[in-house]
Amino acid sequence: MRKLIIAGNWKMNKGLGETRSFLQAVVPQLNKLDLGRVIPLVAPAYPFLTEALREAFASPLMVSAQDVSERNDGAYTGEVSAPMLASLGLKYCIIGHSERRQYHCETDASVNQRLFKLLDQGLVPIVCIGETLAQRDAGDTEKVVLSQLEGGLKDLKLESGTEIIIAYEPVWAIGTGRTATPQQAQEVHAIIRKWIGETYGQSVAQNLSILYGGSVKPDNIKELLECSDIDGGLIGGASLKENDFLAMINTAIGLT
Ligand code: 13P
Repeated sequence: MRKLIIAGNWKMNKGLGETRSFLQAVVPQLNKLDLGRVIPLVAPAYPFLTEALREAFASPLMVSAQDVSERNDGAYTGEVSAPMLASLGLKYCIIGHSERRQYHCETDASVNQRLFKLLDQGLVPIVCIGETLAQRDAGDTEKVVLSQLEGGLKDLKLESGTEIIIAYEPVWAIGTGRTATPQQAQEVHAIIRKWIGETYGQSVAQNLSILYGGSVKPDNIKELLECSDIDGGLIGGASLKENDFLAMINTAIGLT
């Protein structure tokens, strides 16, 4: 069975004190749960990764970065590299988030470079893809998502033991309160899994977790997770509240 990942992307929210208090409230609760194949994960901002790793130490909570440089070292002011993230003991990193694409000129090609930098360090990339509203309205969703996959995963050979996670986040559903319906999300997830199967084989496709992101909250997560190709959520706003985060994890446990 695939991992069911409940991932909180905190974006540019929570400073040191808030990171600590969230984790001090949530980690003891997670320690009491029988999580099975459910993986809880949070992605705080860079300065607080160490604190998050410390608070999550020896617990089931995984910690992720929100981005990584496409280069390993050198004169790139403000950048954080994959070897630096690996040196923290981090296991996961989000790449290609639509906000990075929109505000920081990330492209499929630069996502692809990041992907390899992470894999070289043994980190698991969480690769975000998704169409804009204009692209959906033009009937281009499948074309856009497949071209993001082709570009972002270019030259990738998924050998056994190499893990990646895909997150489908329709841009029009992010932070808008307008969640994709389970049918809309499932349709695209099935397209993604089919492409993975054709490209890497059925065993890779059946083991790869594909997360949905875009206005996921405690009220709507169950119907999304019930879809056969949705293996978790990449959650922004609703992951910032301890109780909502725990509620979504409990919903996921209830479905396993
Ligand atoms: P919201 O859950 O706030 O819509 O954000 C989704 C997202 O972008 C997660 O990466």
